[in-house]
Amino acid sequence: MSQNNHVYPVIWNENRVLLIDQNRLPNEYAYVEISCYEDMAEAIRTMIVRGAPAIGVAAAYGMYLGAREILSENRQQFLTQLEQVAQQLRRTRPTAVNLFWAIARMLQTAYETMGTVDELKKVLLETAITINSEDLQTCQAIGARGLEVLPTNPTQLRILTHCNAGALATAGYGTALGVVRSAWQAGRLVRVYADETRPRLQGAKLTAWECVQEGIPVTVITDSMAAHCMNRGMIDAVVVGADRIAANGDTANKIGTYSLALVAQWHKIPFFVAAPLSTIDLQLTSGSEIPIEERHPSEIYQIGDTILSPPGVEFYNPAFDVTPAELISAIITEYGAVPPSQLKQLLSKQYLSRELA
Ligand code: MRU
Repeated sequence: MSQNNHVYPVIWNENRVLLIDQNRLPNEYAYVEISCYEDMAEAIRTMIVRGAPAIGVAAAYGMYLGAREILSENRQQFLTQLEQVAQQLRRTRPTAVNLFWAIARMLQTAYETMGTVDELKKVLLETAITINSEDLQTCQAIGARGLEVLPTNPTQLRILTHCNAGALATAGYGTALGVVRSAWQAGRLVRVYADETRPRLQGAKLTAWECVQEGIPVTVITDSMAAHCMNRGMIDAVVVGADRIAANGDTANKIGTYSLALVAQWHKIPFFVAAPLSTIDLQLTSGSEIPIEERHPSEIYQIGDTILSPPGVEFYNPAFDVTPAELISAIITEYGAVPPSQLKQLLSKQYLSRELA
């Protein structure tokens, strides 16, 4: 943690990257040092660093670390080897599009930068640092834009969230938890309900930890309690993050998000997705095209050293599900919150204003 008590999961520090080891939280707050791109790929795969935007930032640094390891002074050979680094980083996790977005941006920078290989490497580091700092600003903007769409009645909200879309999952501040933070700072939040988020428990471990750091009242519930809490009138809004949003607004997020959205609709509780534009994948027309990561079954059958199920059982462990756009009240981005049906207009407006600037 930095001196100002903020959480930054990915830090560039004296020629190497420091990652908060998210597998050791909340019991231990420790950094892992990453000095080569293979270690960065492994850290993403094993979820030392996780959460879509944070994975993107980590991959950007991974690209620089890979570039730094390339010995050739020949531009063409350098670019060929950089493509191989990119390929290895891409193989780590399939669903969060921010990973692919950040790698593509780093590659594009390399192709567009003229000069010696040493100059290229310098520009790549600068680009990774820019991706990192832009994500932090983006999250703060998402937090502010979220406040504009949260219900005003009641004045003191109880917000349910799923998994961890907080500072730990981004460059800092968070997307869904960024909205929660803004609401807390504005005096509009009374409590966060955090789904524990089986099987990896990012809610119970990471979201709860972040709320405690910030002094935000938090209640952890098991995933299966969400419908009951809504039915009892305990929840005013649901805010979650996203790993990939298709052009029609269908949204992939941590497994369990879809059922939460269904239950929220039944109870007429607004359901918000908070995510940066870098999470939107316009190449995919709908959520059915989003690749869903499947992780090792031990995440389901094993807790610590304890095996939960008898031999002979089969397991299915998808890490994400897709929430249909119709169940989403609004997607909160850094440029404003819109219903999924208006996502494309928001993007083209944003694109046009960039072109005209
Ligand atoms: O498997 P994880 O922990 O990387 O999944 C994280 C999520 O599903 C988050 O909700 C999502 O990445 C958004 S993070 C701002």
